[in-house]
Amino acid sequence: MAIYPELAGKVAIISGAGGNLGITVSQVFHAAGIRLGLVDLREDTLRQRLREANLNPDEALLGALDLTQKRAAIDEFVGRVVAHYGKVDILVNVAGGFRAGGPVHEMDEEIWDFMMNINAKTAFLLSAAVARSMVARQGGGRIVNIGARAALNGVPTLSAYSASKSAVLRLTESMAGELMPYGITVNAVMPSVIDTPQNRAGDPSADHSKWVTPQSIAEVILFLVSDSARDISGAAIPVYGRA
Ligand SMILES: NC(=O)c1ccc[n+]([C@@H]2O[C@H](COP(=O)([O-])OP(=O)(O)OC[C@H]3O[C@@H](n4cnc5c(N)ncnc54)[C@H](OP(=O)(O)O)[C@@H]3O)[C@@H](O)[C@H]2O)c1
Repeated sequence: MAIYPELAGKVAIISGAGGNLGITVSQVFHAAGIRLGLVDLREDTLRQRLREANLNPDEALLGALDLTQKRAAIDEFVGRVVAHYGKVDILVNVAGGFRAGGPVHEMDEEIWDFMMNINAKTAFLLSAAVARSMVARQGGGRIVNIGARAALNGVPTLSAYSASKSAVLRLTESMAGELMPYGITVNAVMPSVIDTPQNRAGDPSADHSKWVTPQSIAEVILFLVSDSARDISGAAIPVYGRA
């Protein structure tokens, strides 16, 4: 039996669904009986990643969107999910990325814009579209964002990343307050280093067993969207593993 039987039949939108964490969240949600609306930059890559993860791409509603800029297209995708499934109960904003920019006094302007857009603006635009739909339906909801440990303090040479993930936490707290009257919770999880093939390749000599796995983070997210977490909102939960 599923740990959270109340989740069967719920509808979730997951952004960055073809990435390391996004594909695992998609798997864990599918196993819980949640119906999926999945967004990523490219549909062909998303379909391939879903097949590799033993998920049938045709069972989910897919969207190929640049979540940093196409507000009308984002609103249209959320409308398509609502038309298809009748509602959206859950949003997980996984889309994001990382660039180290070096010291601020040497950093290119493009790094700042890229980090703020890919991490903060994606969460803002998709959350706004989904929250409007949840508020209008008056059926409550769950939104989960992905912060990072680097959101808690400025980190030398990582200013843009750190600031962009701090923005995600402030967005989380603001929306938690705004949406509390509607029974919509908004929380964030904060990974440290995730155990991904890219991170392993970038730091081959590190003790990878200390890094948090996508599966472990996905299970925390599943808890946050369950009834058991109904009274938690505005939280930023550390999921550091042993790193
Ligand atoms: N990896 C880590 O160690 C780590 C640590 C702390 C926090 N995080 C956060 O955890 C989340 C997931 O990380 P991850 O390692 O799974 O990243 P990932 O594998 O790079 O996955 C991110 C996904 O988001 C997609 N994406 C990027 N820009 C987008 C846009 N503008 N519109 C729509 N989709 C977009 C990417 O597509 P493309 O691949 O086509 O670009 C990719 O499929 C991110 O928010 C990241 O910042 C990661």
